[in-house]
Amino acid sequence: METNAPKRRDNKKSLRVKVISLGNAEVGKSCIIKRYCEKRFVPKYLATIGIDYGVTKVQVRDREIKVNIFDMAGHPFFYEVRNEFYKDSQGVLLVYDVGLRESFDALDSWLGEMKQEMGSQANMDSIVFIVCANKVDLTKRRVVDEGEGRLWAESRGFHYFETSAQSGEGINEMFQAFFSSITDMCENGGKRPTAEVSAGFTKEQADTIRRIRNSKDSWDMLGVKPGATREEVNKAYRKLAVLLHPDKCVAPGSEDAFKAVVNARTSLLKNIK
Ligand code: GTP
Ligand code: MG
Repeated sequence: METNAPKRRDNKKSLRVKVISLGNAEVGKSCIIKRYCEKRFVPKYLATIGIDYGVTKVQVRDREIKVNIFDMAGHPFFYEVRNEFYKDSQGVLLVYDVGLRESFDALDSWLGEMKQEMGSQANMDSIVFIVCANKVDLTKRRVVDEGEGRLWAESRGFHYFETSAQSGEGINEMFQAFFSSITDMCENGGKRPTAEVSAGFTKEQADTIRRIRNSKDSWDMLGVKPGATREEVNKAYRKLAVLLHPDKCVAPGSEDAFKAVVNARTSLLKNIK
């Protein structure tokens, strides 16, 4: 009797979770996992074929967590192998390479693929997402800055971490936050606690800032057709000014976006009679 008692208590405290890694090929998903689990970095690219599976045990507060890691291949060729593994995940590592804009832009389609494969049972509120802006050691080739990445992540209620599998920067912190959030979620009846990553700004604000950053000219920035009238320009400007005014909007990059909108309006009005 006595020998069984502690065992039962331990069982109650232990937890099994499933996490997956997502993102374009070569962004560093496998290297991030390897850096954490094996404390090493492999510079040579070894593409994941379909899926790699591993198990690790971690301690979060008084609980032992057994983590099943499914490291997905990013190459489109492996879609048919990956698609079965989305279901029943409690955590997702969404990885992009800060030196490759297309890998950042692809995050939306990775979420799309996941939702599609999970079908009607998709409940994205029961999954912890961590966005890894990876390869931050390669500072010279960086094209997606922290503000932009953080904005995309936090506007969706996801965590954001800057990581380097090569130097190890951010890796332990990122996994600690990941496992601790998953544990919180499981203790919270399977619903992702929102307060901790609540961004304080809306998705509309975040999407607008992103659109402004990527706009090709002043017309595009204000969201009006080339040749629009003064009234149309002013109307579009007012709408954006209300949304992004620095007194009202705390989203990263809102000040720059607001200034850009003011400048765009000024330069357009100069040329409209
Ligand atoms: P797939 O399995 O094809 O989907 O790719 P992956 O996302 O798993 O990429 P992987 O981890 O295999 O890394 C791809 C390449 O990037 C390898 O050559 C790695 O050495 C390199 N790499 C990964 N992370 C980093 C990093 O943080 N910094 C630098 N400089 N290189 C990295
Ligand atoms: Mg891989």
